[in-house]
Amino acid sequence: MKKQLLAFSLALAFTSTSSILHAQDSISAGKEKAASCISCHGDQGNSIVSTFPKLAEQHPSYIIKQLQAFKTGARKNPMMSAIAAGLSTDDMEDIAAYYAAQDISANVLPSQVDVANEDEDEEGITDTKKLTIEEVLAQGSDLYRNGDLKREVSACIACHGPLGEGNKPAGFPMIKSQHADYLIQTLTDFKNDVRSNNPENMMHMIARKMTIEEIKDVSYRLSMMK
Ligand code: HEC
Ligand code: HEC
Repeated sequence: MKKQLLAFSLALAFTSTSSILHAQDSISAGKEKAASCISCHGDQGNSIVSTFPKLAEQHPSYIIKQLQAFKTGARKNPMMSAIAAGLSTDDMEDIAAYYAAQDISANVLPSQVDVANEDEDEEGITDTKKLTIEEVLAQGSDLYRNGDLKREVSACIACHGPLGEGNKPAGFPMIKSQHADYLIQTLTDFKNDVRSNNPENMMHMIARKMTIEEIKDVSYRLSMMK
């Protein structure tokens, strides 16, 4: 009995060490395979060009899913389709393990942003008011937490978490500290059904009800979430 137990616990110890070793191998293999991504996605997945998404700290299952979508053409982008075409499932898994193990960098607060609030008064005259960064962040924060009941925009917090960390088991992406310019672009793509690779089309259903102002508010807010 004792011998069996010992053998069992040794076997357990061996499996967990070997899976840790395997994870380490995958991360180092991923680092090498991600060399060609640096020019756009930056060192360790922290891109410095605001229209190229950061990949650092992103959940592996989400990265793999997007790479597969670029490869099959379900998500369309000329730059990424060509790159994903050359990646095997093993490559995608290694690259995803590598990026997931990096830390996402923080963004610098912009001094001003181009967001205008369009209000119609009783006479139907539209008054366009340029918003300060503080107003934009406050509106974005409100939308993130509470959604917009009147217009049936779901609260982002429900799926992307209180800190924008996403939901790893569900494969919902981390969206904190992402570049605002990329977020505005991709939310607009969801809105216009240009990006529609998720089967339930959840993000299209949500973004299509958002105004461009709301997309900008929430994107700047997300870019500042750490
Ligand atoms: C020439 C520039 C370029 C290179 C090189 C490049 N990418 Fe991209 N990548 C982009 C752009 C632009 C997007 C955004 C596409 C869009 O808007 O749909 C993107 C998007 C992605 C996304 C989706 C991110 C998200 O948050 O949804 C992943 C994952 C990704 N790239 C992985 C890679 C990997 C892995 C490599 C290297 C093997 C790589 N990319 C190389 C430009 C590039
Ligand atoms: C019901 C769950 C759910 C809710 C609520 C939700 N999302 Fe998402 N979101 C998702 C899923 C799932 C994806 C991944 C879609 C895919 O695979 O293409 C996603 C993707 C995204 C992306 C793309 C991330 C990237 O790196 O490209 C952004 C940005 C985003 N959501 C923002 C928001 C915002 C802002 C709100 C609130 C207005 C919101 N989401 C509400 C489930 C949700």
